[in-house]
Amino acid sequence: MRMVDLIEKKSGGLELTNEEIRFVANGFARGEIPDYQMSAFMMAVVHRGMSDRETADLTMAMMHSGDVVDLSEIRGVKVDKHSTGGVGDTTTLVIGPLVAACGGTVAKMSGRGLGHTGGTLDKLESIPGLLIEQPMDRFKEIVNDIGVAVIGQTGNLVPADKKMYALRDVTSTVSSIPLIASSVMSKKLAAGSDAIVLDVKVGSGAFMQTIEDARKLATLMVNIGTLVGREVVAIITDMNQPLGLAVGNALEVRDAVEVLSGKVAETDPLYEVCMLLATNMLLLGKVAGDEKEAREMLANAMRSGAGLQKLQQMVAAQGGEAAYITPERIDELCQVQRKIPVYPRRTGYITGMRAERIGTAAQMLGAGRETKADIIDPAVGLMMHVRLGARVTCDTALCTLYVNDEKRLAEATEMFLSAIEIGEEKPDYVPMVHDIIRKCLS
Ligand code: URA
Repeated sequence: MRMVDLIEKKSGGLELTNEEIRFVANGFARGEIPDYQMSAFMMAVVHRGMSDRETADLTMAMMHSGDVVDLSEIRGVKVDKHSTGGVGDTTTLVIGPLVAACGGTVAKMSGRGLGHTGGTLDKLESIPGLLIEQPMDRFKEIVNDIGVAVIGQTGNLVPADKKMYALRDVTSTVSSIPLIASSVMSKKLAAGSDAIVLDVKVGSGAFMQTIEDARKLATLMVNIGTLVGREVVAIITDMNQPLGLAVGNALEVRDAVEVLSGKVAETDPLYEVCMLLATNMLLLGKVAGDEKEAREMLANAMRSGAGLQKLQQMVAAQGGEAAYITPERIDELCQVQRKIPVYPRRTGYITGMRAERIGTAAQMLGAGRETKADIIDPAVGLMMHVRLGARVTCDTALCTLYVNDEKRLAEATEMFLSAIEIGEEKPDYVPMVHDIIRKCLS
């Protein structure tokens, strides 16, 4: 088999066999196929697409390019959750502990942030002492003891995706639905959970810009999971503004503590998305029999403080100082040299927010990385004070910047202001949840 023939076949719009797809994925992971041929192949996929069968075959080939985690020593139905990337999205830190407090089992491997999106591991590392690297045996022990742990990827998980993603990033081949679906699902399947809840983002801060595309991606991922015997539910949620009010690392942990302490209104987007994701995790985990029961269990865990206690237990089990994880003390992790409000240059309604630019502004202050080698300042970032549709005047603070290093302050402020669109007319209400996709196989 020759790679050049497979590139030609795909660019001619033909369907590749399972054997051919395995040749591409394994050959590239092993270093036998050069970057230039893989780039040409992925560009052909961008233009010609892949059938669902090809995408499922690619997912499985990528999944088996490295280690596959065995979580069978952990009791119960293990439920994972994945978001396709957002800004101010601290859902994992809320729903992992909340689901565990209701009796669910969450053994989660998360990623770091790069560019405008934050990473759960960076947020966790803003808690002094917490170790996101845990030996696999200890990881399983923590989950068996308290029901939840969140760690970094261990071992050699899906090396094909690591190499493909790095190449996609620099060859303008990120936004292909089959490539995103196989990238996400190969990692989720290799991470070993029995069931998966996917949060597929749509909007200005997301890979998917239209609901139709988000629905296509969601359906494809649910079908791939079902094909290999995992239960998958995908929820399409709005990413036309940061999900929570905090964008930064310790700031997002503070947001999570506030939600778990019942301090956030039920109408808040972060609360709404957390409840929906956690409800589906309890259903897939067979902890709750129906949606009403799941919601009651979650509301009780929030009201009683059991969810917050679970987060404290998880932090302690992973070596962190759990004393900070209270509404009274969490602020100590968010101390910065200056807090600077940002005001709009005109009066009107907030008609749009470019969420990715808000993420980039926080990154410029030191909350995120531009390159893998950059070092994060855990305390910096920004707190939003307004939501889409708000009426603002030149005296309304849109956000407060949390700043230690002022080197890129002016640039970050301009980046933030360029993200906020202000108009004369109040925009229509946009719901947070656009659709829920469950088993789609006939
Ligand atoms: N997230 C992933 O893990 N992979 C993609 O291709 C896009 C988002």
